[in-house]
Amino acid sequence: MFAVQFDRFGPPEVLSVGPFAEPHAGRGEVRVRVRAAGVSPVDVALRAGRSPSAERVALPHIPGVDAAGVVDEVGPDVTGVAIGDEVFGAVDVARLGGASAEFAVLAFWAAKPASMSWEEAGAGATSIETATRALDLLDVGEGTTLLIDGAAGGVGSVAVQLAIARGARVIGTGSPENQAFIAQLGAIPTTYGRGLPERVRRLREVDLVLDVAGAGSLPELIAITGTAASVVTIAEFTGPRLGVRLSLGDLGGDPNGRHGLAVAAALLEEGRFRLPLQEVFPMAQAARAHAFAARGPRQGKIVLAVP
Ligand SMILES: NC(=O)c1ccc[n+]([C@@H]2O[C@H](COP(=O)([O-])OP(=O)(O)OC[C@H]3O[C@@H](n4cnc5c(N)ncnc54)[C@H](OP(=O)(O)O)[C@@H]3O)[C@@H](O)[C@H]2O)c1
Repeated sequence: MFAVQFDRFGPPEVLSVGPFAEPHAGRGEVRVRVRAAGVSPVDVALRAGRSPSAERVALPHIPGVDAAGVVDEVGPDVTGVAIGDEVFGAVDVARLGGASAEFAVLAFWAAKPASMSWEEAGAGATSIETATRALDLLDVGEGTTLLIDGAAGGVGSVAVQLAIARGARVIGTGSPENQAFIAQLGAIPTTYGRGLPERVRRLREVDLVLDVAGAGSLPELIAITGTAASVVTIAEFTGPRLGVRLSLGDLGGDPNGRHGLAVAAALLEEGRFRLPLQEVFPMAQAARAHAFAARGPRQGKIVLAVP
Protein backbone atom coordinates (compact mmCIF):
# COMPACT_ATOMS: atom_id res chain seq x y z
CA MET A 1 0.00 0.00 0.00
CA PHE A 2 1.03 3.66 -0.13
CA ALA A 3 1.47 5.61 3.09
CA VAL A 4 2.80 8.83 4.58
CA GLN A 5 5.85 7.82 6.62
CA PHE A 6 9.03 8.97 8.31
CA ASP A 7 12.21 7.00 9.02
CA ARG A 8 13.75 9.55 11.41
CA PHE A 9 12.35 12.17 13.77
CA GLY A 10 12.62 15.74 12.60
CA PRO A 11 10.95 18.64 10.76
CA PRO A 12 7.95 18.14 8.43
CA GLU A 13 10.39 17.43 5.55
CA VAL A 14 11.17 13.98 7.04
CA LEU A 15 7.72 12.92 5.77
CA SER A 16 7.40 11.17 2.42
CA VAL A 17 4.71 9.14 0.65
CA GLY A 18 5.72 5.68 -0.57
CA PRO A 19 5.17 1.93 -0.28
CA PHE A 20 4.59 0.36 3.16
CA ALA A 21 3.55 -3.12 4.37
CA GLU A 22 -0.25 -3.44 4.69
CA PRO A 23 -1.72 -3.78 8.19
CA HIS A 24 -4.52 -6.28 8.94
CA ALA A 25 -7.46 -6.16 11.32
CA GLY A 26 -6.85 -8.02 14.58
CA ARG A 27 -9.38 -9.03 17.25
CA GLY A 28 -11.96 -6.32 17.80
CA GLU A 29 -10.67 -4.21 14.90
CA VAL A 30 -11.67 -3.30 11.35
CA ARG A 31 -9.49 -2.26 8.45
CA VAL A 32 -10.61 0.56 6.18
CA ARG A 33 -9.60 1.78 2.75
CA VAL A 34 -8.87 5.28 3.98
CA ARG A 35 -10.54 8.28 2.34
CA ALA A 36 -9.34 10.96 4.78
CA ALA A 37 -7.00 11.10 7.79
CA GLY A 38 -6.61 13.78 10.47
CA VAL A 39 -3.46 15.67 11.39
CA SER A 40 -3.36 16.53 15.12
CA PRO A 41 -0.87 18.14 17.51
CA VAL A 42 0.05 14.70 18.90
CA ASP A 43 1.03 13.51 15.39
CA VAL A 44 3.18 16.60 14.90
CA ALA A 45 4.90 16.22 18.29
CA LEU A 46 5.62 12.52 17.66
CA ARG A 47 7.10 13.17 14.19
CA ALA A 48 9.29 15.91 15.67
CA GLY A 49 10.54 13.49 18.34
CA ARG A 50 9.07 15.80 21.03
CA SER A 51 6.65 13.22 22.43
CA PRO A 52 7.49 10.88 25.36
CA SER A 53 6.02 8.14 23.12
CA ALA A 54 8.78 8.64 20.53
CA GLU A 55 10.99 6.01 22.16
CA ARG A 56 8.24 3.39 21.68
CA VAL A 57 7.93 4.04 17.93
CA ALA A 58 9.46 1.62 15.42
CA LEU A 59 10.78 3.40 12.33
CA PRO A 60 9.69 3.82 9.60
CA HIS A 61 6.39 4.96 11.10
CA ILE A 62 3.05 6.06 9.61
CA PRO A 63 1.70 9.14 11.44
CA GLY A 64 -1.93 9.90 12.24
CA VAL A 65 -4.53 8.38 14.56
CA ASP A 66 -7.86 9.52 13.04
CA ALA A 67 -9.24 8.13 9.79
CA ALA A 68 -12.43 7.55 7.84
CA GLY A 69 -12.97 5.06 5.06
CA VAL A 70 -14.74 2.00 3.69
CA VAL A 71 -14.43 -1.22 5.73
CA ASP A 72 -12.53 -3.89 3.78
CA GLU A 73 -11.56 -6.33 6.58
CA VAL A 74 -13.44 -7.25 9.76
CA GLY A 75 -11.40 -8.79 12.59
CA PRO A 76 -12.54 -11.60 14.94
CA ASP A 77 -15.17 -10.72 17.61
CA VAL A 78 -16.43 -7.68 15.72
CA THR A 79 -20.20 -7.28 15.33
CA GLY A 80 -22.45 -4.64 13.84
CA VAL A 81 -20.23 -3.69 10.90
CA ALA A 82 -19.65 -5.29 7.49
CA ILE A 83 -17.30 -4.99 4.54
CA GLY A 84 -18.38 -2.00 2.46
CA ASP A 85 -19.67 0.07 5.42
CA GLU A 86 -18.55 3.71 5.60
CA VAL A 87 -17.09 4.46 9.06
CA PHE A 88 -14.99 6.99 10.93
CA GLY A 89 -12.77 6.28 13.92
CA ALA A 90 -9.23 5.99 15.20
CA VAL A 91 -6.37 3.54 15.54
CA ASP A 92 -5.47 2.00 18.92
CA VAL A 93 -3.54 4.52 21.05
CA ALA A 94 -0.85 1.87 21.62
CA ARG A 95 -0.07 1.87 17.86
CA LEU A 96 0.77 5.60 18.10
CA GLY A 97 -0.24 6.15 14.47
CA GLY A 98 -0.96 4.42 11.21
CA ALA A 99 -3.90 6.42 9.84
CA SER A 100 -2.28 8.45 7.04
CA ALA A 101 -2.20 5.57 4.59
CA GLU A 102 -4.14 3.70 1.92
CA PHE A 103 -5.32 1.19 4.56
CA ALA A 104 -5.63 1.71 8.33
CA VAL A 105 -6.76 -0.51 11.20
CA LEU A 106 -9.32 1.13 13.47
CA ALA A 107 -9.75 0.20 17.15
CA PHE A 108 -13.01 2.15 17.53
CA TRP A 109 -15.40 3.61 15.01
CA ALA A 110 -18.99 4.60 14.22
CA ALA A 111 -21.06 4.66 11.05
CA LYS A 112 -20.35 7.76 8.96
CA PRO A 113 -23.60 9.69 8.51
CA ALA A 114 -24.51 10.47 4.90
CA SER A 115 -24.36 14.20 5.56
CA MET A 116 -20.82 14.04 6.97
CA SER A 117 -18.09 14.61 4.36
CA TRP A 118 -15.14 12.23 4.21
CA GLU A 119 -12.87 15.06 5.31
CA GLU A 120 -14.98 15.86 8.39
CA ALA A 121 -15.20 12.15 9.20
CA GLY A 122 -11.45 11.60 8.87
CA ALA A 123 -10.57 14.51 11.09
CA GLY A 124 -12.71 14.10 14.11
CA ALA A 125 -12.70 10.85 16.09
CA THR A 126 -10.05 11.58 18.72
CA SER A 127 -11.29 15.15 19.26
CA ILE A 128 -14.85 13.90 19.72
CA GLU A 129 -13.89 11.11 22.13
CA THR A 130 -11.51 13.35 24.07
CA ALA A 131 -14.11 16.09 24.42
CA THR A 132 -16.81 13.57 25.40
CA ARG A 133 -14.59 11.96 28.05
CA ALA A 134 -13.72 15.34 29.58
CA LEU A 135 -17.35 16.55 29.57
CA ASP A 136 -18.42 13.26 31.21
CA LEU A 137 -15.73 13.66 33.88
CA LEU A 138 -16.94 17.19 34.62
CA ASP A 139 -20.57 15.99 34.51
CA VAL A 140 -21.50 18.84 32.18
CA GLY A 141 -25.26 18.99 31.78
CA GLU A 142 -28.37 21.13 31.54
CA GLY A 143 -27.90 24.57 33.02
CA THR A 144 -24.18 24.38 33.85
CA THR A 145 -21.87 27.16 32.74
CA LEU A 146 -18.60 25.78 31.39
CA LEU A 147 -15.44 27.71 30.56
CA ILE A 148 -13.31 26.08 27.83
CA ASP A 149 -9.74 27.39 27.65
CA GLY A 150 -8.63 26.84 24.03
CA ALA A 151 -12.08 26.73 22.39
CA ALA A 152 -11.11 27.19 18.73
CA GLY A 153 -8.81 24.21 18.25
CA GLY A 154 -9.54 20.62 17.26
CA VAL A 155 -10.76 19.43 20.67
CA GLY A 156 -12.07 22.82 21.83
CA SER A 157 -14.32 23.45 18.81
CA VAL A 158 -15.90 20.02 19.32
CA ALA A 159 -16.18 20.36 23.11
CA VAL A 160 -18.03 23.70 22.78
CA GLN A 161 -20.71 22.16 20.57
CA LEU A 162 -21.10 18.92 22.55
CA ALA A 163 -21.44 20.87 25.81
CA ILE A 164 -24.11 23.12 24.29
CA ALA A 165 -25.93 20.03 23.01
CA ARG A 166 -26.01 18.82 26.65
CA GLY A 167 -27.75 22.05 27.65
CA ALA A 168 -24.71 23.88 29.03
CA ARG A 169 -23.78 27.54 28.50
CA VAL A 170 -20.20 27.87 27.30
CA ILE A 171 -17.59 30.61 27.51
CA GLY A 172 -14.71 29.87 25.15
CA THR A 173 -11.26 31.44 25.04
CA GLY A 174 -9.22 32.05 21.92
CA SER A 175 -6.81 34.43 20.25
CA PRO A 176 -8.20 37.82 19.15
CA GLU A 177 -8.44 36.43 15.57
CA ASN A 178 -10.73 33.61 16.74
CA GLN A 179 -13.39 35.54 18.68
CA ALA A 180 -15.93 35.50 15.83
CA PHE A 181 -15.24 31.81 15.12
CA ILE A 182 -15.86 30.89 18.79
CA ALA A 183 -19.13 32.86 18.74
CA GLN A 184 -20.20 30.97 15.58
CA LEU A 185 -19.68 27.72 17.48
CA GLY A 186 -22.25 28.96 20.02
CA ALA A 187 -19.98 30.03 22.89
CA ILE A 188 -19.48 33.44 24.49
CA PRO A 189 -15.98 34.35 23.28
CA THR A 190 -13.19 35.94 25.28
CA THR A 191 -9.43 36.13 24.86
CA TYR A 192 -7.08 33.84 26.79
CA GLY A 193 -4.10 34.93 28.86
CA ARG A 194 -3.44 37.62 31.49
CA GLY A 195 -6.57 38.95 33.21
CA LEU A 196 -8.78 35.97 32.25
CA PRO A 197 -10.47 35.59 35.68
CA GLU A 198 -11.57 39.25 35.62
CA ARG A 199 -12.84 39.04 32.02
CA VAL A 200 -14.79 35.87 32.77
CA ARG A 201 -16.25 37.31 36.00
CA ARG A 202 -17.67 40.21 33.96
CA LEU A 203 -19.39 37.73 31.59
CA ARG A 204 -21.06 35.30 34.01
CA GLU A 205 -20.46 32.95 36.94
CA VAL A 206 -18.68 29.75 35.87
CA ASP A 207 -19.41 26.32 37.41
CA LEU A 208 -16.88 24.15 35.57
CA VAL A 209 -13.67 24.60 33.58
CA LEU A 210 -12.14 22.47 30.82
CA ASP A 211 -8.49 23.20 30.03
CA VAL A 212 -7.90 22.06 26.46
CA ALA A 213 -4.88 24.25 25.75
CA GLY A 214 -2.43 23.19 28.45
CA ALA A 215 -1.00 26.68 28.29
CA GLY A 216 0.11 26.91 31.93
CA SER A 217 -3.07 28.69 33.08
CA LEU A 218 -4.30 26.19 35.70
CA PRO A 219 -3.87 28.53 38.74
CA GLU A 220 -6.01 31.20 36.99
CA LEU A 221 -8.56 28.57 35.89
CA ILE A 222 -8.84 27.23 39.46
CA ALA A 223 -9.30 30.81 40.72
CA ILE A 224 -12.30 31.23 38.41
CA THR A 225 -14.44 28.60 40.18
CA GLY A 226 -12.52 28.71 43.47
CA THR A 227 -11.83 24.97 43.53
CA ALA A 228 -9.55 22.63 41.58
CA ALA A 229 -12.29 19.98 41.83
CA SER A 230 -14.27 21.90 39.17
CA VAL A 231 -11.41 21.85 36.66
CA VAL A 232 -10.38 19.10 34.22
CA THR A 233 -7.37 19.30 31.91
CA ILE A 234 -6.56 17.17 28.86
CA ALA A 235 -3.18 18.73 28.22
CA GLU A 236 -1.47 19.84 31.45
CA PHE A 237 0.43 16.94 33.01
CA THR A 238 1.13 18.92 36.18
CA GLY A 239 -2.64 19.20 36.82
CA PRO A 240 -2.90 16.47 39.50
CA ARG A 241 -0.28 18.27 41.63
CA LEU A 242 -2.76 21.16 41.87
CA GLY A 243 -5.73 18.85 42.47
CA VAL A 244 -6.94 19.14 38.86
CA ARG A 245 -8.11 15.93 37.19
CA LEU A 246 -6.12 14.96 34.08
CA SER A 247 -8.13 13.12 31.41
CA LEU A 248 -5.98 10.92 29.18
CA GLY A 249 -6.82 8.73 26.20
CA ASP A 250 -5.94 5.31 27.55
CA LEU A 251 -9.21 3.83 28.81
CA GLY A 252 -7.63 0.57 29.94
CA GLY A 253 -9.90 -1.46 27.67
CA ASP A 254 -13.15 -0.02 29.11
CA PRO A 255 -15.68 -0.92 26.34
CA ASN A 256 -18.14 1.74 27.60
CA GLY A 257 -15.46 4.39 27.71
CA ARG A 258 -16.00 5.44 24.10
CA HIS A 259 -19.48 6.50 23.13
CA GLY A 260 -19.00 9.97 21.71
CA LEU A 261 -18.79 9.16 17.98
CA ALA A 262 -22.35 7.90 17.59
CA VAL A 263 -23.70 10.83 19.65
CA ALA A 264 -21.79 13.35 17.53
CA ALA A 265 -22.90 11.62 14.31
CA ALA A 266 -26.56 11.82 15.40
CA LEU A 267 -26.19 15.52 16.34
CA LEU A 268 -24.53 16.18 12.97
CA GLU A 269 -27.48 14.56 11.15
CA GLU A 270 -29.81 16.85 13.16
CA GLY A 271 -27.78 19.90 12.13
CA ARG A 272 -26.67 20.55 15.74
CA PHE A 273 -23.00 19.67 15.30
CA ARG A 274 -20.29 20.14 12.69
CA LEU A 275 -16.60 19.38 12.48
CA PRO A 276 -14.92 22.64 11.58
CA LEU A 277 -12.16 22.03 9.03
CA GLN A 278 -9.49 24.68 8.87
CA GLU A 279 -7.61 23.16 5.93
CA VAL A 280 -7.72 20.05 3.74
CA PHE A 281 -4.43 18.97 2.12
CA PRO A 282 -3.91 16.24 -0.49
CA MET A 283 -2.04 13.31 1.07
CA ALA A 284 0.97 14.03 -1.14
CA GLN A 285 1.33 17.34 0.77
CA ALA A 286 1.51 15.75 4.24
CA ALA A 287 4.67 17.73 5.04
CA ARG A 288 2.83 21.00 4.30
CA ALA A 289 -0.07 19.85 6.47
CA HIS A 290 2.26 19.10 9.40
CA ALA A 291 4.01 22.48 9.01
CA PHE A 292 0.62 24.22 8.93
CA ALA A 293 -0.54 22.29 12.04
CA ALA A 294 2.41 23.62 14.02
CA ARG A 295 1.27 27.24 13.57
CA GLY A 296 -1.72 29.06 15.09
CA PRO A 297 -4.29 30.39 15.17
CA ARG A 298 -6.29 27.21 14.85
CA GLN A 299 -9.91 26.99 13.62
CA GLY A 300 -10.88 23.34 13.97
CA LYS A 301 -9.12 20.45 12.28
CA ILE A 302 -6.51 19.80 9.60
CA VAL A 303 -7.03 16.79 7.38
CA LEU A 304 -5.41 14.82 4.54
CA ALA A 305 -7.56 13.72 1.60
CA VAL A 306 -6.41 10.21 0.61
CA PRO A 307 -6.72 9.35 -3.12
N1 LIG B 1 -5.72 13.93 26.84
C1 LIG B 1 -6.05 13.52 25.64
O1 LIG B 1 -6.62 12.44 25.47
C2 LIG B 1 -5.79 14.42 24.47
C3 LIG B 1 -6.38 14.12 23.23
C4 LIG B 1 -6.19 15.01 22.18
C5 LIG B 1 -5.37 16.14 22.34
N2 LIG B 1 -4.78 16.35 23.53
C6 LIG B 1 -3.93 17.54 23.75
O2 LIG B 1 -4.80 18.65 23.89
C7 LIG B 1 -4.18 19.81 23.38
C8 LIG B 1 -5.10 20.49 22.39
O3 LIG B 1 -5.33 19.65 21.28
P1 LIG B 1 -6.06 20.24 20.00
O4 LIG B 1 -6.11 19.16 19.00
O5 LIG B 1 -7.32 20.92 20.36
O6 LIG B 1 -4.98 21.35 19.55
P2 LIG B 1 -5.10 22.54 18.50
O7 LIG B 1 -6.11 22.19 17.47
O8 LIG B 1 -3.74 22.88 18.07
O9 LIG B 1 -5.71 23.74 19.37
C9 LIG B 1 -5.01 24.33 20.42
C10 LIG B 1 -5.82 25.51 20.94
O10 LIG B 1 -5.13 26.10 22.05
C11 LIG B 1 -5.37 27.49 21.98
N3 LIG B 1 -4.33 28.23 22.69
C12 LIG B 1 -3.08 28.56 22.28
N4 LIG B 1 -2.43 29.25 23.24
C13 LIG B 1 -3.29 29.36 24.27
C14 LIG B 1 -3.22 29.97 25.54
N5 LIG B 1 -2.12 30.61 25.96
N6 LIG B 1 -4.30 29.88 26.36
C15 LIG B 1 -5.43 29.24 25.97
N7 LIG B 1 -5.56 28.65 24.75
C16 LIG B 1 -4.50 28.71 23.92
C17 LIG B 1 -5.38 27.82 20.51
O11 LIG B 1 -6.15 29.00 20.34
P3 LIG B 1 -5.92 30.01 19.08
O12 LIG B 1 -5.90 29.12 17.87
O13 LIG B 1 -7.11 30.91 19.13
O14 LIG B 1 -4.60 30.68 19.34
C18 LIG B 1 -6.03 26.58 19.90
O15 LIG B 1 -7.40 26.80 19.74
C19 LIG B 1 -2.84 19.35 22.79
O16 LIG B 1 -1.84 19.58 23.76
C20 LIG B 1 -3.03 17.88 22.58
O17 LIG B 1 -1.79 17.18 22.64
C21 LIG B 1 -4.98 15.53 24.62
